[in-house]
Amino acid sequence: MREAPEPAPRDGEVVVDLTAVAVTAGDARMRSGVFPSGFGLVARLAVGLRGPRRRILGSAFAGRCDGERVAGMAGARLGAHAERLAVAADSLVRIPEGVGDAAAAAALFGRTTALHFLRDRARLRPGERLLVNGASGSVGSAAVQLGRALGAEVTAVTSAANAELAAGLGADRVVDYGRTPVGALDERFDVVLDAVGGAPRREWMRLLAPGGRLVLVAAGLGDTIAARGPVIAGVAAESPELCADVLRYVEEGGFDPLVEELGGLDAVSEAYRRIDSRRKVGNLVVDPRC
Ligand SMILES: NC(=O)c1ccc[n+]([C@@H]2O[C@H](COP(=O)([O-])OP(=O)(O)OC[C@H]3O[C@@H](n4cnc5c(N)ncnc54)[C@H](OP(=O)(O)O)[C@@H]3O)[C@@H](O)[C@H]2O)c1
Repeated sequence: MREAPEPAPRDGEVVVDLTAVAVTAGDARMRSGVFPSGFGLVARLAVGLRGPRRRILGSAFAGRCDGERVAGMAGARLGAHAERLAVAADSLVRIPEGVGDAAAAAALFGRTTALHFLRDRARLRPGERLLVNGASGSVGSAAVQLGRALGAEVTAVTSAANAELAAGLGADRVVDYGRTPVGALDERFDVVLDAVGGAPRREWMRLLAPGGRLVLVAAGLGDTIAARGPVIAGVAAESPELCADVLRYVEEGGFDPLVEELGGLDAVSEAYRRIDSRRKVGNLVVDPRC
């Protein structure tokens, strides 16, 4: 933790007093410089060769601006792991009355990703069979809940420890990958979403029914470049429209962001330890006012 100069808003920006900020797998990648296979050099050139060029990371936030409760995502400028953030005024969304600040900050990263990939790109339809790998993480838990809300029949893949959680989120069926590796599954799915990464694409393609779509949320460079037809990869959108959608779902009780509040900004390092362990469940949030 360091003292830093007050953020200086540029044209069109405002300063938000932060009340809750998420620590995500995206922040952890930028901190560690560990990216999906093949992205290492490209990503390091963009983020910073010897460490992140942006000294303050953090994207998904909630806070106060001109007396309003607001939330949003800071995009490539980051800077949300702080007490105050300068951010484009038109990227902010109002937090609905019934939604807490921690829930708002927690909900944005995973659910915007799930909306982007499942609803807007794979165009998941009612009655389709959806497989979600990594169902207890930020993206996976959002994908299970969104799949259910869109009327799909959801199969969640988790460790045994998280099987009950995935069922509670609405999965029709839970596969414990410790007992049944996905390679051993013999059914077929209309949409397969992998939120873990690392497995060869052909292993997932094998699981697709005719007309099926494969969503690789953590694709390596090769799969990202080759993604076309049934294969969907790339970077999820972070628009204010998506953020507003997310907060509306939370308000209506249609989305549980699985919030874990860890403490103040000095708990960011603990959050990174949890993410790096690859066992994090749901979403981690810190409160810069603590
Ligand atoms: N393309 C994009 O725009 C975009 C957007 C957001 C995130 N991402 C990427 O998507 C990935 C997931 O992000 P996230 O925030 O959901 O991560 P996360 O919350 O840190 O995911 C943690 C979960 O992964 C599960 N997991 C670990 N190894 C597993 C395995 N072998 N099989 C099944 N599940 C496993 C763990 O569950 P168990 O303990 O049950 O195994 C844990 O609950 C990250 O690589 C992130 O960088 C990409």
